[in-house]
Amino acid sequence: MSAQREPIGVIGTGYVGLVTAAGFAELGSDVWCVDIDAEKIARLRAGEVPIYEPGLKELLERNAARLHFSTEIGGALEHARLLFVAVGTPPTHSGDADLSAVNAVVAEMPNSGRHALVMKSTVPCGTGATIQRVFGEQGKESLSYVSCPEFLKEGSAVKDFMHPDRVVVGDDDGWAGDAVIALYEPLGAPLVRTDVASAEMIKLAANAFLATKISFINEIANVCEDTGADVIEVARGVGLDERIGPRFLQAGIGYGGSCFTKDVSALKLLAANSGYHFQLLNAVTEVNELQKRRVISKLQRHLGALAGRRIALLGLAFKPETDDLRGASSLVLAARLLAEGAVVSAYDPVAADAAREQMPALDFCDSALAALREADAAVLVTEWRELVELDWSAVAAAMRGDLVVDGRNALDPLRLRGAGLRYEGIGRR
Ligand SMILES: NC(=O)c1ccc[n+]([C@@H]2O[C@H](COP(=O)([O-])OP(=O)(O)OC[C@H]3O[C@@H](n4cnc5c(N)ncnc54)[C@H](O)[C@@H]3O)[C@@H](O)[C@H]2O)c1
Repeated sequence: MSAQREPIGVIGTGYVGLVTAAGFAELGSDVWCVDIDAEKIARLRAGEVPIYEPGLKELLERNAARLHFSTEIGGALEHARLLFVAVGTPPTHSGDADLSAVNAVVAEMPNSGRHALVMKSTVPCGTGATIQRVFGEQGKESLSYVSCPEFLKEGSAVKDFMHPDRVVVGDDDGWAGDAVIALYEPLGAPLVRTDVASAEMIKLAANAFLATKISFINEIANVCEDTGADVIEVARGVGLDERIGPRFLQAGIGYGGSCFTKDVSALKLLAANSGYHFQLLNAVTEVNELQKRRVISKLQRHLGALAGRRIALLGLAFKPETDDLRGASSLVLAARLLAEGAVVSAYDPVAADAAREQMPALDFCDSALAALREADAAVLVTEWRELVELDWSAVAAAMRGDLVVDGRNALDPLRLRGAGLRYEGIGRR
């Protein structure tokens, strides 16, 4: 790559910021990374990677000379024109997006016609307009603003950065939007250049649609259970329709993660705050919450009361290939099982440390088989490959009972039944 690439700043070095920084460094940019978390910055400076994301460690190592880490924004402002903002926007108690971290960054920006704030954080539609108004009020009207929402998926974030389905750039056709487009140009992705509000809405609408697709197939799965149909067959037949497509039609115990729940809620409240009742998203959210709990009734149907029963949770992260527990179905399941009086053992290949802090009452084990020992039932919560490929005869020998609830429809019922286990999926015959 050419040494002429535009240097950039990245504010916030979490899942999005760190991957964005490493990705642009790989493309040849010098990247000044800023985070208020001093411990995180110290670890990054020491060559440690604070999160688990496949391929990220190698990318950071390969581009170490181009990556600079600091708790202060000064270096980024000195060396870069474009400041990519990737700070968290978690939900507030009311369900709206908490923009306090974004606002803290806005407050730190100088009045400079040389700089642009490039918003990667997911923010409600209208945030860019508000920030530009605030810039005006603070006498910083010469600053530029670009909305550049991020679509990467945890677990394949590096690949998604390098091969995006599209790049969305929302601005007023100024120099900063041009510069952001030039940065992404080597990736050859389809470009959507639009206004700021539309760019913001594209991100919220995309996540809301994906969440809707999941809740839809989960409801179909629930109806399959009452009618004798098999949701795997149904999803295959439906997904081959080009207008629908096969992805996000995997029934299971509901979506988790930091994004879908909060972005669906933020979009619903954004609509409500301007007087519109977004009915569909109420149902999407409710279906998802109930879906996480359906496992409990499945266990009760087979085992009766769960008090004193030992239940093994296989996988805790909200999906495979990440250590992220935010919004994970495991949190709801564990809490419900404990409330029913069950004893809960648990195993996750990478998320166990974070899980220990959040679910101290669980019996954490160092292997799946250890978690399964003397269990009355097991629940596959996260379809990590090592869990999908367990030796089911060894599982049957380790367990006291024989029930396996496949919360992700990722297991082969015939293999499990062949090993003497009782298989129960979601919407499967
Ligand atoms: N995680 C995803 O898969 C994903 C995908 C697309 C979009 N997003 C969006 O990207 C944004 C970031 O998400 P994330 O998962 O990377 O969050 P994260 O919590 O992993 O990282 C946020 C980082 O910002 C830092 N930070 C907070 N305030 C700061 C400040 N004032 N200055 C500098 N650093 C600050 C935090 O210390 C943290 O390291 C969110 O808006 C999210 O909705 C996330």
